[in-house]
Amino acid sequence: MKTFNIAIIGCGNVGGGTAKILQEAARELKKRAGGKEIKIKKIITLHPRRQAGRYGLPIELFCSCKEEISALQSDAFIKEALKDPEIDLIIETIGGSSGRIHNLHKSILKSGKHLVTANKAVLAKHGSSIFDYAKKQKKSVGFEGAVCGAIPLIKVVQDSFTGDLINSVAGIVNGTSNFILSRMSDKGAGFGEALKLAQKLGYAELDPSMDINGTDAANKLKILIQLIYGIPATEQGFEVKGITNVSKEDFMVAKSLNSTIKLIAFAKKEGGKVYACVQPAVISKQDYLYNVNGATNAIKLDAKYSGGHLFVGQGAGSIETGSAVVSDVVFIAKHGYIKDITQSAGPVKHSLADFNLYPASYLLIIKTKDTPGVIGAVGTAIGDVGVNIENVAQSIISGDGWYLPVEVSKCAAKQLDKAVALIKKRKPKLIEEYKYIPIFK
Ligand code: HSE
Repeated sequence: MKTFNIAIIGCGNVGGGTAKILQEAARELKKRAGGKEIKIKKIITLHPRRQAGRYGLPIELFCSCKEEISALQSDAFIKEALKDPEIDLIIETIGGSSGRIHNLHKSILKSGKHLVTANKAVLAKHGSSIFDYAKKQKKSVGFEGAVCGAIPLIKVVQDSFTGDLINSVAGIVNGTSNFILSRMSDKGAGFGEALKLAQKLGYAELDPSMDINGTDAANKLKILIQLIYGIPATEQGFEVKGITNVSKEDFMVAKSLNSTIKLIAFAKKEGGKVYACVQPAVISKQDYLYNVNGATNAIKLDAKYSGGHLFVGQGAGSIETGSAVVSDVVFIAKHGYIKDITQSAGPVKHSLADFNLYPASYLLIIKTKDTPGVIGAVGTAIGDVGVNIENVAQSIISGDGWYLPVEVSKCAAKQLDKAVALIKKRKPKLIEEYKYIPIFK
């Protein structure tokens, strides 16, 4: 039986873990690939010797046995791999969303090889285009590792829900921010302190911006929305808020309401429209997501016929994400193709709506002074815009601030904007700061 040869471009965290599994589990994988031996023909990285040592891989698998090669040499090895007629599939695990990576994806497909990647940033940026290009070249693009690392979500959404309609998807899809928020919640740490610890323990990158500003979570949500609702990732402009503004005081308030705060990626179909956002949300103790701590990811899918489903697992990590990448390689080796991003939503294309119009319950936190008439002024303005107050919780005193938490029944965030504008007009000095956080029940 023919060998199925692959090359791996980029041997960092995910590439290294992928290569390790392909080596370690080779016999099992051969059985699963219908008897085809999956062989690593070349691993291309700028640091061959170091990465071989780090992942326990034979140096012979690498493009060079040197400690370091130049970018130019690496490009030459990539060209060689593209030209090699024996290579059937190339795994891109360099990362990043630059034009260079998108062009590399195209070159891989143009050279007649399948592509497997865990690179959510480039897939979200270019949407269907790489999949359309793959179709033209009669090749496939596997991307199971791109959304929530090890959690087998892509194939499940594509294949296991074909008999159902997914109403909503909501969950924790970024481990770094979840680690930081868990630390703030459990230890009362401030954002900066929790971020430093995440960096020290290797959860957060030296430049953690994509994780903490919500971009990474948004990229994953875009891929899921395209899969589930057929809206191309390139046409999705939804609200993305990161965790940098979540404060100690927010957690104090949440705690007093038997809740915590998590960064939630959310999409829900209602009346033919899809409302989506990535933002910190209040999660109550009764919700399963409440106990999802540290770097773990968890996704809740709600389907019309089968009801609720929960997927929990490691959303990042070397061999964890590697296992998802390998699953695509094995699938393609066995079947000669893998489904693309456009093949699960069916012909019904939905449109995206402004989340600020979505009726959600909110926790409004107003930083003000403890003076007579505050609650009255806030309550009257909220009532005047037709929003119902469910609960005015115990105020929090912290530092120089007095924080008033108000829970409101389902309303559009735009109505709360109006209420805040009214308060500011009537009592210009009353609000020092304010925020509203959706309560996802
Ligand atoms: N940096 C991501 C996280 C993993 O912290 O979950 C890769 O998307």
